[in-house]
Amino acid sequence: MRDLPWPARVYLVAVIGAAAALIVRSVIVSGGPVAPADLDVLLVLALLFLVCESMPTLLNVEQFAVSVSFSASLAAVVLIGPEGAALVGLTAVLSVRPGLPLIKRLFNGAQFAICGYAAGLLYEALDGRVGVPQVNAFDDLIGPYAAATAVFVPLNIVLTLTMIGLATKVRATEVPMRGMAQFLLSYLGYGTFGLLVAGLWATVQSISAVLVLLPLFVARWAFGQYHAQQRSYDATIAALCQAVETKDYYTRGHCTRVSLASSMIAQEIGMGLERVRAIRYAGMLHDVGKLGVPTKVLQKNGPLTEEEFAAIQLHPMRGLEIVRGIGFLDEAYAGIMHHHERHDGTGYPMGLAGDEIPEFAKVIAVADAFDSMTSDRSYRGARPVPEAIDELRKTAGTHFDPVMVAAFIRALEHEPWQPPRRVDPPPPEATETPIKDHDDPTMPIEVVTGQ
Ligand SMILES: [Fe+2]
Repeated sequence: MRDLPWPARVYLVAVIGAAAALIVRSVIVSGGPVAPADLDVLLVLALLFLVCESMPTLLNVEQFAVSVSFSASLAAVVLIGPEGAALVGLTAVLSVRPGLPLIKRLFNGAQFAICGYAAGLLYEALDGRVGVPQVNAFDDLIGPYAAATAVFVPLNIVLTLTMIGLATKVRATEVPMRGMAQFLLSYLGYGTFGLLVAGLWATVQSISAVLVLLPLFVARWAFGQYHAQQRSYDATIAALCQAVETKDYYTRGHCTRVSLASSMIAQEIGMGLERVRAIRYAGMLHDVGKLGVPTKVLQKNGPLTEEEFAAIQLHPMRGLEIVRGIGFLDEAYAGIMHHHERHDGTGYPMGLAGDEIPEFAKVIAVADAFDSMTSDRSYRGARPVPEAIDELRKTAGTHFDPVMVAAFIRALEHEPWQPPRRVDPPPPEATETPIKDHDDPTMPIEVVTGQ
């Protein structure tokens, strides 16, 4: 608590205080949050809430976890009313999450209590009947329940994001809005499970909670595992990428930017989510074959001998050899293998032309050249973005696929490019000689014969 900035502390105290006030008020006004006859319902829902809350799904935002426990809160809105829903939410304080500080537990419990209470009040205000639903009156619940869900979920997100914002200074504008919209929609959908629990209660009582929420909980857990797997893939790729970049002082961050530019083109030409993910990996790894090229050849300034040029031309195939065993790369292999093919057939390693070149390779070729042109190199400063775009336009149809160039230019119109910061000259020990970039289409590699 002492580590938190003072606005976060004030907010924390206000949320916990509000939750405590509404529980105390329910005791004073109605003699307790729930009637003694409803204690069994409260117990089952609180237990279910606790189980779900104890195994949350981590999101990409650091230290931000969500769970499907709110469905139990929403079922409580119908079965035992706003005070009962608040009490169910409050059990988040007891969740089994080792290492979670007490202050976070208190905040979680308090905000769930407030959300449950607010949702319950609205449910009652819209004539939603509290208690086990009657079969012939179930339709009447749907409207008030939908309204309660529409209050609970956004309120839960706003309360949590405000806390994260105040505690970590992550501004709301930094949260990716597309992801947030998907997240909100999926949670509104999950909210319907609370209605199913309440509806089934009339026939199978407490088993309804298990019947409905347990499969959902397992699905969410599996989804969390999938995300964890994706994060480990990302870390593996990033490590390989870093290994490549340590060979070349001036190309730091190049892989990440090629990955970003490639995914911009991929989205612009309408690739699906899985292919966009694969092309992100291909962009990160396109030059991994440099690991198999002698550093002195990569860093040589001036004309290359035929043998040295052959070693450079081998890097796409070396790259393929290095990553061949990584199963999840799929189509990325083609991107790595052919990213130096040219539209007119004069590229390498295979001299493919036009439609013979795999789509991934066409995309990466444009992204690769663009980032190379807009980054500092030892032999020249970064070119301005408009100049690099002009160069792409000029060489569309010869070096690059015109469709990919046009797609990239369109993507840049709605997502302006952030070129890397100026690179300070390297310390003397970082490089022996000035470095020539084989990706730079404006500075073709010179090859001398007979050396
Ligand atoms: Fe390359």
